[in-house]
Amino acid sequence: MMARTLIKNGTVVSPTGRHEVDVLIEGETILALLERGKSDSLNITADKVIDATGKFVVPGGIDVHTHMELPFGGTNASDTFETGTTAAAWGGVTTIVDFAVQRYGENVQESLATWHKKAAGNCSIDYAFHQIIGGIDEQALADMDYLVKNEGITSFKLFMAYPGVFYSDDGQILRAMQQASNNGSTIMMHAENGIAIDVLVQQHIARGETDPKYHSYSRPSLLEGEATNRAIVLSKVAGNVPLYIVHMSASEALNALSEARHEGLNVFGETCPQYLYMTLEDHLAQPGFEGAKYVCSPPIRSKHDKHNHHADLWKGLRMNELAVVSTDHCPFCMKDQKELGIGNFSKIPNGMGSVEHRMELIYQGVVQGEITLERWVETCSTSPARMFGMYPQKGIIAPGSDADILVWDPNGKTKIGVNDKHHMNMDHSSWEGFKVDGKVDTVLSRGKVVVEKDKFTGTKGHGKYIKRGLCQYLN
Ligand code: URP
Ligand code: ZN
Ligand code: ZN
Repeated sequence: MMARTLIKNGTVVSPTGRHEVDVLIEGETILALLERGKSDSLNITADKVIDATGKFVVPGGIDVHTHMELPFGGTNASDTFETGTTAAAWGGVTTIVDFAVQRYGENVQESLATWHKKAAGNCSIDYAFHQIIGGIDEQALADMDYLVKNEGITSFKLFMAYPGVFYSDDGQILRAMQQASNNGSTIMMHAENGIAIDVLVQQHIARGETDPKYHSYSRPSLLEGEATNRAIVLSKVAGNVPLYIVHMSASEALNALSEARHEGLNVFGETCPQYLYMTLEDHLAQPGFEGAKYVCSPPIRSKHDKHNHHADLWKGLRMNELAVVSTDHCPFCMKDQKELGIGNFSKIPNGMGSVEHRMELIYQGVVQGEITLERWVETCSTSPARMFGMYPQKGIIAPGSDADILVWDPNGKTKIGVNDKHHMNMDHSSWEGFKVDGKVDTVLSRGKVVVEKDKFTGTKGHGKYIKRGLCQYLN
């Protein structure tokens, strides 16, 4: 008989409400939700009982935007699939969707095989892949169909930024969108006007403006808004193909997204904790080279802009203009990595490490009244699962679903920092000093307890590859 676990006395939270029920798990799956007291009256026995009195029992976090071991900016993202998924588990995350990368001149299927090799046998929680297409040609277009049909990869990231690295021009984007419109997949877009940005970058450098803060000045929010609008127009021309704008940082981009959504287009958006909490002045512009820790693209925005980006993004989350919070976890150490950009901000590897802290940081948004508890669950677990074809296997606490569960203690406290809570493979924390009024208590990945009583109890290799279906939000 398969092992049984019973999570008793907690409040189970879904996007539609809270229920005082116990969760009975058998093996890797949720077997039943039992009215309070029923497990005693029915004499249900379990091998393990988790007492969740006073705690929230929520579906495990799903982070649909991570970059473990990404070769980027002349170095590699510092978390491996092993260290990154372990840190994710510490943060209540039970599934990540990482990006396999094809560059110009490379073969898509070979690049996917490389990513499978990096991840297989190393993950402590479940994982899936999107595919980055950095070189759109006939073969890459045909490979998109193959991946959708055979590999459970139903989403493709394209870049309007990073010329010479991942960039696609409008014609290539349109062709990939047309392909997606035929095979049912979703186009994910890095929407910044990289051609214009490169001009601004060179002008700043030529003026001797080389500090990390110029990373943000050279990537104005207007150019994120412009690219977002252009991507939306192209998706419409391609036949209302599902378009998901990644890592949105700016009100201008959000306005373009909202307008398209009100028009009924299949356009969706995600934002990340750094765009909800950090500012150019308080983070990127820190003295010396400290600001390098916060260099990511799109950049952290100014608090003195015409728009209040933080407030607008939180509103976007409340209004479902933004469907998902991911992290864009792409960690680099200061030593030997971020340091590559001393004296030239454009050489600082782009990215921050957050996979461990998204559930914590967005819960703090609940405490601050920005979103409801239910919306926290929805934006961090249920919508990611539905957006990327994993629901109801993932993203909900319901009979038949994988027993991916976070028991969250609203009375606990979390202090983030290298000498406090920090398990990512980084020599600093992007979130040093942030405090959260709540705490990860227990985490289960397909029925296995992976974090309990401030200890990691998971195992490398427990995490399985998840083949995904199509987006479940289509008109
Ligand atoms: O700065 C970032 N966002 N690094 C990761 C690569 C990307 O564009 O998502
Ligand atoms: Zn990107
Ligand atoms: Zn990314």
